[in-house]
Order: sequence, then structure tokens, then C-alpha cells
Amino acid sequence: MLVLGIESSCDETGVALFDTNRGLIADFLHSQISLHAQYGGVVPELASRDHIRYLPRLLEQLWQKTDMTPKNLDGIAYTAGPGLAGALLTGASIARAMAFRLDIPALGVHHLEGHLLSPFLSAERCAFPFLALLVSGGHTQFVKVSALGNYSILGDTQDDAVGEAFDKTAHLMNIPYPGGAKLAQLAKTGDPNRFKLPRPMYHSGDLNMSFSGLKTAVSLLIKKHSQEDFADIASSFEAAIVDVLTHKCHLALKQTGLKQLIIAGGVGANTHLRKNLQDLCQKNQVKLYSPDLVYCSDNGAMIALAGALHLEKNPEQQKTNGEFNVFPRWPLDQYQPVY
Ligand code: KG4
Ligand code: ZN
Repeated sequence: MLVLGIESSCDETGVALFDTNRGLIADFLHSQISLHAQYGGVVPELASRDHIRYLPRLLEQLWQKTDMTPKNLDGIAYTAGPGLAGALLTGASIARAMAFRLDIPALGVHHLEGHLLSPFLSAERCAFPFLALLVSGGHTQFVKVSALGNYSILGDTQDDAVGEAFDKTAHLMNIPYPGGAKLAQLAKTGDPNRFKLPRPMYHSGDLNMSFSGLKTAVSLLIKKHSQEDFADIASSFEAAIVDVLTHKCHLALKQTGLKQLIIAGGVGANTHLRKNLQDLCQKNQVKLYSPDLVYCSDNGAMIALAGALHLEKNPEQQKTNGEFNVFPRWPLDQYQPVY
């Protein structure tokens, strides 16, 4: 079963082909970072226009670089939410129009499901059930993944997402948007013990988290110090976040008894976090799975994969009639793919 995946929920345009027998066949990505950088954040209207510009180009590349044509497709999956309404509509309308013309099913999938299943893009797959730490620009959650489409949120951030805290702190250090990865790079050159920063909700006993207090503490430090101290501040900030996430992960593994952990989402590319979770898993006989670094951040491959798994499970889906909706806010635990 061959499925085309389209991702357009925020500032990355992604397309990919996933085959249930052969795995990932090809994927192409266009990042809008340079487009939004001058504004210090994503400008929704510009994002939609850029998706419209790039989706046809990326699709053309997909057919040119593979021996496939749209006629080979068994279905088309697209991100139906959560995300920016206008941006979601671009992918949804192209996917629905193509599926209508080809007389095949189209399905709207949840962006976070894509992240949760992204470790399945690697050769070594884990089996259900597993625990997922989902850390991105918009989400910081512990999710129990019991089966395809069966997700329970065990813990969540009460305020800022981890990626958002990284980006906002980077912004205060004049690191251009989205500064998370560059801040992590700077942190590698600093002393993580120089500044004692708060570990919010570390002892709360539950799996919830909070990062806005830490962000405030670090912003005060930045104001008091100069550029040459920024590496130590970045390193101390990263250490506080990684400490909290690792501790909560340990708690989540103990509470659920799960023996497999996956880490997903853009912040999953953070090497300090990956290293600490590796150590934690090793000590507790837990197997850690994480997507290849390129599939940590937004991409079309995870959407094609999610769509292919759903269509494989429910092959008798109706062909699309061309009608569709998008869901800028879409609770994961109430989610079913939209056919
Ligand atoms: O999953 P993603 O690509 O997009 C969302 O769905 O949000 O995650 C992007 C987030 C951004 O906040 C970015 O700064 C952060 O992931 N990020 C990192 C690193 N690489 C990306 N944060 C910390 N360390 C990194 N190495
Ligand atoms: Zn994402």
C-alpha cells in the first residue's frame, strides 16, 4: 500500500511516499525559517502562501526522483491539525483535490501522531505499548501509546512548551529565530553548574511540568550578565530542562511499568537530553527508540507513515468526496483520523 503524506501545519512544507512493504521511499522538505527569521517568529499568512508555493514543487520532485506516479497511490494522508488554520488548509486542499481526481481515499491525521510514530521510520521498530516523550515547539507531553490511534496523555506542561522555552531564551540572547538548536549548540561550550536555576515541578510527584518560571529566572540572569556569560547561562538552562525531563521520564516509566521509551519532536534532537535518557534507560533495562535526527522536527515522512498504518488497518475506506475540514486545536486523546 503506497501512501503520499503532506505536512503543512506550521513552517515546514513536507511531502513523502511511504510503502507498507518497502518503508519510506522518498521525502522532500522545504523549511520556511529564513522567511520568518526577520520577524522573530512564524507569520501565519506568509506561512500559508509559502506552502502554496512549495507544495506543487516538492510533489513534482517526488515524482521526478522516484519511479512512481500519482496513479500508483493507494491513499493520501495530510496533517489536519493541530496547527495554523491557513497553513493546514493548503495541505488539506491539495491532498483532497488529488485524492478526488485519483478516486482514492484521503485521510487527515494528527500532527502529534506523526511525531509519536516517527521512530517507526527507522529500521528497528518498537512494538506497542510504549511510553513517548513528546517535546516540540508547541508540546511537552508524556503519552502512553497503547496501539495505533490509542493515545493517553499522562502528563503535560502547564504553560510553555520546552521548545518554546528554548526559543524564547535564545531570543533574549539575540540568537535568531528559531534559536532552540543554536542555544543548545552554545550550551555545549558552557559550564552547566555555574548558575543554579530552578527545576520547576521537579518534586510535584505527577507527570506535569512547567517552564515559564525557569524562563523568567533565566531572563533575569541574561539582563544581569553580558555576552561572555551567555554560554554558561545557556548550559545551566539546558541542564535544568534536561534534569526535569529525565526525572519525569523516570517517574513515568516507574508508574506505567512500560519497558520501551520513544523520544519525539524537535527538541528530541537535543544531544544532552538524548544522552541522559540513554543513561536512564540503560540503568532501568528500558529500550530507547528515537527517530533519526532529520525526522525529529516536522516532516512529511511521519505523516505518510501514520496515514499508511491507518489505511493498512482499515483498507475498506471510502474514496474522498472532496469535502474536508481542518482542526487548528485537536486534543490527541480524542483523535481519530478523518476520512
Ligand atoms: O517538532 P518541531 O519541529 O515543531 C513543532 O511541532 O513544534 O519542534 C521545533 C522545536 C523548536 O522550538 C526548536 O527550537 C526546537 O524544537 N529544537 C531544539 C533543538 N532542535 C530543535 N530544542 C533544543 N535543542 C535542540 N537541539
Ligand atoms: Zn511538530
